[in-house]
Order: sequence, then structure tokens, then C-alpha cells
Amino acid sequence: MAEYTLVADKTGELRMDAADKETRYAELMMQIEATLAGEPDLTAAMASVACLLHNGFPYYFWTGFYRRVGPTRLLVGPYQGTLGCLDIDFARGVCGAAATRRETLVVEDVHAFPGHIACDSASASEIVVPVFDARGELIAVLDVDSTIPAAFDEVDQRWLERIVALLAQKEPMPVVWRG
Ligand code: SME
Repeated sequence: MAEYTLVADKTGELRMDAADKETRYAELMMQIEATLAGEPDLTAAMASVACLLHNGFPYYFWTGFYRRVGPTRLLVGPYQGTLGCLDIDFARGVCGAAATRRETLVVEDVHAFPGHIACDSASASEIVVPVFDARGELIAVLDVDSTIPAAFDEVDQRWLERIVALLAQKEPMPVVWRG
């Protein structure tokens, strides 16, 4: 991982310096574009994005995708971190709310969010970014949790929306090929 500076905020939490965060996302964007180039499969792309993001930032604790597998049903997809919940209905949690509204949600305090699903009690804040296909259909959400309160801001939102836009051109191949 490239070098970065951790700065203590007024509550004593260590946060990544804002300029380092921009630089790190710009580097990761290039790395993700290069990794995904020439690979049409959606699952391979999601797994690679989750891995690169998760290992790219010290404040990422759970990083991954919930795929839309029904009209209002999300099912866990490629992720990194501790065990995630498997099934999330659109009516539940931050993931469900972001899927329903088709917009990014930045939650500073997950415990204050009505209906938040605590897959891991260590999570304190999160960002959920909707993922669309080339026709504008919602196909998944990207969920990133942190153990640090208010870890995510408009910088994370801007870059993560750009990163998930790269998935619009990908298509799921058969999960298992049976000849
Ligand atoms: N916190 C999410 C659930 C998913 S996990 O945190 C991995 C939510 O409330 O939607």
C-alpha cells in the first residue's frame, strides 16, 4: 500500500489525511481500470474491486457487494472482511434503503439508522453505493463498513460511484459450467 498520513481528529480518532485519500483513490482507480480491462465477467470484476478497495484503505472494515437477485431481494456477493449477512430485503438496512432510493447513502452512525442490520457489531459507519447496468437497472449495491465513526464522506462517495460505474459493462457468466 502507498504511504499515507493518519491525522487525529478532535475526538481522537485517527483519520486518513484528505489529500492522501484523494491520491489513494486516484491510484486505485487506475489499478482497478487496468485489472478489469478485457475481463467481461461481473463476478470476477466485483471480487477484484472488493479486494483492491479493501486492501487500499486502513479504515475499510467490510467491503463488498450485495447482488440484486429478485425484485426486492439482495444476496451477498464477493466481499472481504468478517462474515456478512446473506439476504437483505429492500425494506431493511442501509443496503435496502440505498437500493430502494437508487442513491448513495453515507451513514455517519449506523446505530442511529432505523433498521440498520448489524452483521458485525464492530461496524460504526458505512457507505452504500448503488450499482447499475448499462440500461440503468439496479444490479447490486457496494457496501463498505468501518469501525471508525463517520469514516466516509463525499470524497469516498465521488470515487466509489466512479468505480462502480466500471461494472456497468460487465455481464455475469454461468457460476458453474456443466458440459
Ligand atoms: N450494514 C448493512 C448490512 C450489511 S453488512 O454490514 C455487511 C445494512 O444495514 O444494510
